[in-house]
Amino acid sequence: MPKLMIILGSVREGRIGLPIAEWVKRTAEADGRFDIDFADLATIALPFMDEPKHPRLRQYSRPHTIEWSTRVDAADVFLFAFPEYNYSFGPVIKNALDYLNSEWNRKPVGFVNWGGNSGGTRAQTALRPVVGALGMVMTKGNIEINFPQRQISDEGEFVPNEQHTQVLKLQLDELLALDEALRPLR
Ligand SMILES: Cc1cc2nc3c(=O)[nH]c(=O)nc-3n(C[C@H](O)[C@H](O)[C@H](O)COP(=O)(O)O)c2cc1C
Repeated sequence: MPKLMIILGSVREGRIGLPIAEWVKRTAEADGRFDIDFADLATIALPFMDEPKHPRLRQYSRPHTIEWSTRVDAADVFLFAFPEYNYSFGPVIKNALDYLNSEWNRKPVGFVNWGGNSGGTRAQTALRPVVGALGMVMTKGNIEINFPQRQISDEGEFVPNEQHTQVLKLQLDELLALDEALRPLR
């Protein structure tokens, strides 16, 4: 079974990202086709990238990098869940990506984004060249959620609309298809 790593890239107190990422996790678990690793960057708490050598050399010197590298290396496919801050991605997701190099290469990734008016479109567009530089291959459909606060239930759960549900299902299908295509290249 391919290992799906869900990376939650918002770390603020009270973040809406947590219920959104938990919905992604619930859905992927119910799908039954993945082993899931839920990587909350708030708990992983990487410092700003502090390795002396370029990650492509894979000569890591910090315990937090070695741990992060081992975890990402074990994953086959990814869903990155992160918000739009000031017309772009927030720094946490970029920092987590910058730490490593070959661990991301030739692996599929889907984005789950949110924001205000834009629904995270600009964050998504901004991170595309970054994952491209790392050799990742993006799913075609990606999720954008406008004002997700309006979709939080009294129990604090994110309640997806029909479109979000459909796109997440398509993303999971595509992650599997891309994984099959890219696996021989890894
Ligand atoms: C520093 C900051 C900048 C933001 N910039 C944008 C923005 O440029 N576009 C947008 O649509 N929403 C923007 N927002 C609204 C966020 O998308 C919204 O607060 C969302 O809840 C953030 O995700 P989080 O709660 O998981 O951190 C911004 C929020 C913050 C805190």
